[in-house]
Amino acid sequence: MEQILVIEGGYSLKGSVRISGAKNAALPVLAATLLSPGKYLIKNCPELLDVKTFSKLLETLGITVTIEKVYDEDGSMDLCIDTDSLSSFEAPYELVRTMRASVLVLGPLVASLGKARVSLPGGCAIGARPIDLHLKGLELMGAKLNLKEGYVEAKAKGGLKGAEIAFDIPTVTGTENLMMAAVTAKGETVIRNAAREPEIVCLGEMLCKMGAKIKGLGTDTIYIKGVKKLKPTDWEIIPDRIEAGTYLMAVAAAGGELFLKEADASLLETVISKLRETGLKIELDHSGILCKKKGRLNAVDVKTLPYPGFPTDLQAQIMAIMATAKGLSVITETIFENRFQHVAELKRLGADIKIEGRSAIVNGVRHLTGAPVMATDLRASASLVIAALGAKGKTTISQIYHLDRGYSRIEQKLSSVGAKIWREDKKSENK
Ligand code: UD1
Repeated sequence: MEQILVIEGGYSLKGSVRISGAKNAALPVLAATLLSPGKYLIKNCPELLDVKTFSKLLETLGITVTIEKVYDEDGSMDLCIDTDSLSSFEAPYELVRTMRASVLVLGPLVASLGKARVSLPGGCAIGARPIDLHLKGLELMGAKLNLKEGYVEAKAKGGLKGAEIAFDIPTVTGTENLMMAAVTAKGETVIRNAAREPEIVCLGEMLCKMGAKIKGLGTDTIYIKGVKKLKPTDWEIIPDRIEAGTYLMAVAAAGGELFLKEADASLLETVISKLRETGLKIELDHSGILCKKKGRLNAVDVKTLPYPGFPTDLQAQIMAIMATAKGLSVITETIFENRFQHVAELKRLGADIKIEGRSAIVNGVRHLTGAPVMATDLRASASLVIAALGAKGKTTISQIYHLDRGYSRIEQKLSSVGAKIWREDKKSENK
């Protein structure tokens, strides 16, 4: 039976929560295990639907995935991946449809098997999200591509070769896909206008530990010298900066004081300085981030940009706190063309928001009021949780499978620090 999330607003937060490993680092790291046969131990994988789906995808390729250890605190896992038995080169529609990041197997499969057949992801709730830049890069590296029956078929008979690739737009998974394709290609690959996200650095450093030769990680030009062979390795997933940012905003909405254990503030500089501008108190130390709220927050303007700019994956969440801030806030989305689906839902809670082109103009109201709302995508659902924590009365959120894709144990984490949040079976509407 479908479940809904119920949140009784108005309870402030106190205590500490562990920030889990980053979803967007775990998925490319799992894909990288396709590059060399053998056993890998991938530590600190978050307990998420997307990680389960990716493991299932690896299993359909013939690979064995076993859980080595489960962390009591948040269900995170150390996964043992044995890629000796890699036997298929096809990522089927049923899996790619539920998780676009499945496309990350394309580069490593072509690199290690010389061929891949991967379902095209299609559009999604937040925009068209093409993968043309991934495909152009692979073609430049000598792969022959064929689009057939909704699948992209890629072949590189004599292996891939190094190439000069310049992206029109910095793409995160595109940079990761081509970096994985290039590590064993013949000669040097240069990726210009590459994305600089920390999750790409996490993947790149793992590839280096496997024997790859990569320079320029974390900058907009990445140089990759192809090597003949890689070897398996152990690797640890970095903390999730988007989950950490989401909990900072939860404090901003609910009030109180929260310590985010293991959050890495160095990956969140733009977000932290923006939140400090609102009046939220944030203190940093080597073991995490402490956040306190005193009084009503001030409105700030926000524009999403590729890293190190303000992340699009926190745009919906900051809008939820701007909904009750003092003054007018202009939030501009520059990465995805349709990432304002949370606006209609926030308005159901009493927010005063107008959309003008790529900007949302948020006029802070005194308080929001609980109501039934619907999650439309992963980060939109987090913004509804945040809004509900600060709202008067009860909010119910449906379609929470979106939330489970990217937030591990969110209701346990929040209730352990004082929030009133729980899951219920959805009652049939016909009754
Ligand atoms: C990744 C993240 C996602 C985040 C996004 C932007 C993962 C698994 N997902 O998604 O959470 O919201 O980065 O930070 O890491 N584009 C093209 N052609 C392409 C590829 C991208 O036009 O071939 C465009 C997209 O439509 C978008 C922009 O480039 O407008 C950036 O997208 P991209 O960085 O590729 O996002 P993802 O890697 O899909």
